[in-house]
Amino acid sequence: MKQNIIFFVMIVSTLFLYGQRIITAEEQKEETDTLILNRVKEWQDLKFGFFAHWGIYATEELVESWSICNEDWIDRKGVEYEPYKQWYWELNKKFNPKNFDANKWAELAWECGMRYFVFTSKHHDGFCMYDTKQTDYSVCGKDCPYSQNQNNDIVKQVVEAFRSKGFWTGLYFSKADWHNKDYWSPMWATPDRNVNYNIDKHPEKWQRFCDFTYKQIEEITHNYGDIDILWLDGGWIRPQWSINSDEVRSWLGAYQRVQDIDMPKIAKIARKGNEDMIIVDRSVGGKYENYRTPEQSVPDSPLNYPWETCMTMGDSWSYVKNDNYKSTNTLIHTLVDVVCKGGNLLLNVGPDKEGNIPEPAIERMKEMGAWLRVNSKAIYSTHPIAPYKSNNICFTESNNDKVFAIILLSNSTNLQNTYTFELSKDLAIGKKKVLGSKAEAKLSKEGEKYILNFSNKDVEQNREKNALVVEL
Ligand code: GLC
Repeated sequence: MKQNIIFFVMIVSTLFLYGQRIITAEEQKEETDTLILNRVKEWQDLKFGFFAHWGIYATEELVESWSICNEDWIDRKGVEYEPYKQWYWELNKKFNPKNFDANKWAELAWECGMRYFVFTSKHHDGFCMYDTKQTDYSVCGKDCPYSQNQNNDIVKQVVEAFRSKGFWTGLYFSKADWHNKDYWSPMWATPDRNVNYNIDKHPEKWQRFCDFTYKQIEEITHNYGDIDILWLDGGWIRPQWSINSDEVRSWLGAYQRVQDIDMPKIAKIARKGNEDMIIVDRSVGGKYENYRTPEQSVPDSPLNYPWETCMTMGDSWSYVKNDNYKSTNTLIHTLVDVVCKGGNLLLNVGPDKEGNIPEPAIERMKEMGAWLRVNSKAIYSTHPIAPYKSNNICFTESNNDKVFAIILLSNSTNLQNTYTFELSKDLAIGKKKVLGSKAEAKLSKEGEKYILNFSNKDVEQNREKNALVVEL
């Protein structure tokens, strides 16, 4: 017995000595705490969120962070890696957005119909958009000209402006930090996105990086009131048990280093006094990925777990000149497609170096808002109903049991006189209201099939719509 105890103490102390921790079975399973599950359910009712990637990369209209990473898919337009990196690190000296007005962003996003937001407090490049005590590499650091403003904490301004309008607040935070010398040590080359030293050989270095991260997590989750969503990126930083696919292994590069940052500890810090905060440890799975985040895509059918599609309005997450914006029609159809499958849409815009939301984005956001104001009943607080999507009709059911048919229209698919569909619920036949229109549709039934009819006049008058909603 005594020997066993000594043996156990030896193992535990060795684990701690080398910075490893004891991994529990619990963290590998999905969250079961109803407090958190209920919060996720409430979040699912919001449906539509505003995502903004903003940082020093905007000063040169670059793709966020990635150009300082030495992976061969990255294009530095012929500039050599090391000088490029040195140049990039200095972009903090250029960040000085003269037109930034968080209230303007919040008003626009509200008008667009968005009801929560996720903002990049720190991307992989390590530049902090908030007042951190852990590094000078931030908007409030002395080298950054924006620090001269009295109100220089950007996260604070964004959180306060959006919260006061009624948005749920979310902060994006990259677990990786390429500017931190305990993550990318200047002692060695930086061959890829990962930590650039052997953690087993330098556990004290890794521990310092973890401690730095814990303090930053504490700052962003406690300095701005209760944050609703902690959205963690940098999925290559994850425990051994979650390294379970070729895709994940491909992120880990040549050295396949396991970078366990102790998520139970991070969650504990973040949720202190705010127990039902939603945590999204992207792609890792288990207890701290409270919802999943398909990127730039919409699943083919409903998923049996909570999810959110994050998608760029242009092609890029951050501001780049002449970005290729999706049309309002496509964006509305994407929102409907996501909602009819039970997801949320987190739509991203990259503000420019002065803090402006680009004009094409403003235009689209206003147009989306105009559509949503008419058709909100079919979107917010709804859940999926089979067959979800049939040809170009999507179905949703509100939490008070009303069923909606959302007919997707475009230049190439005008409204038709007749639609035929099956539905997993009995509907009363007769006249049906078209939201925001004088038009009326007639619903009848033949065998198992419902038939929805529009008059010629209604077909003619509703040609230009992006999507028409019928309350069934
Ligand atoms: C992609 C990008 C990353 C961005 C993220 C947002 O993973 O590489 O830079 O922050 O998408 O979802």
